[in-house]
Amino acid sequence: MAPVNEVRGRIAAREEFADECKRRGVKTCIEVGVDHGVYSAAFLRRYLPDRYYAIDPYPSHGLYPFDRRPDIIMASIALQPFGDAPRLIIAPSVDIAHSHGSYWKPGFVYLDGDHSLKGIREDLEAWWPCIPAGGLLAGHDYWAGPSMEAHGVVQAVREFAAKHGLQITLTHDPVKSWWFEKPR
Ligand SMILES: C[S@@+](CC[C@H](N)C(=O)[O-])C[C@H]1O[C@@H](n2cnc3c(N)ncnc32)[C@H](O)[C@@H]1O
Repeated sequence: MAPVNEVRGRIAAREEFADECKRRGVKTCIEVGVDHGVYSAAFLRRYLPDRYYAIDPYPSHGLYPFDRRPDIIMASIALQPFGDAPRLIIAPSVDIAHSHGSYWKPGFVYLDGDHSLKGIREDLEAWWPCIPAGGLLAGHDYWAGPSMEAHGVVQAVREFAAKHGLQITLTHDPVKSWWFEKPR
């Protein structure tokens, strides 16, 4: 495997992705994996883009073996103060990337959905082609989990960076986020 090209960047905490998007004038942002909308609301309080697509299929199995309808209601309440900008999409992220991603051309995509090695690999491959040059692909939970089935973020991100010759930039918060900038 290629040497790991990993640095600590100027974005200290994941909420600051909103400030970076504001600075760049990003019009369309995407969050994959929404749950109660805690991150969505934190982002939207700092920067209100034209569109913020919040995507989650709310599965009732695996890590979430219970009725997810209350989670959907909580996310809807969290997004409600931000008017027309946020759209909650209840569907698997890869399906949406394939059906709408190239049309939306998101300047920022934040992956915090399926953290399994397979899930992260699929999200990386699906969303990268949708992001225009200069856009950001980022994600949460950059830590090595006990099993790749459950948590393959570090491995998938490192593989992807090596394949595309990208530098992995990390936030400094206790639970790190990673990000790539698409070369111009
Ligand atoms: C860690 S939570 C998200 C937390 C949220 N981003 C935050 O920080 O407030 C992970 C979410 O990913 C969702 N998820 C699982 N598989 C997914 C998929 N294929 N596409 C999108 N979201 C998925 C789960 O339903 C769960 O709600």
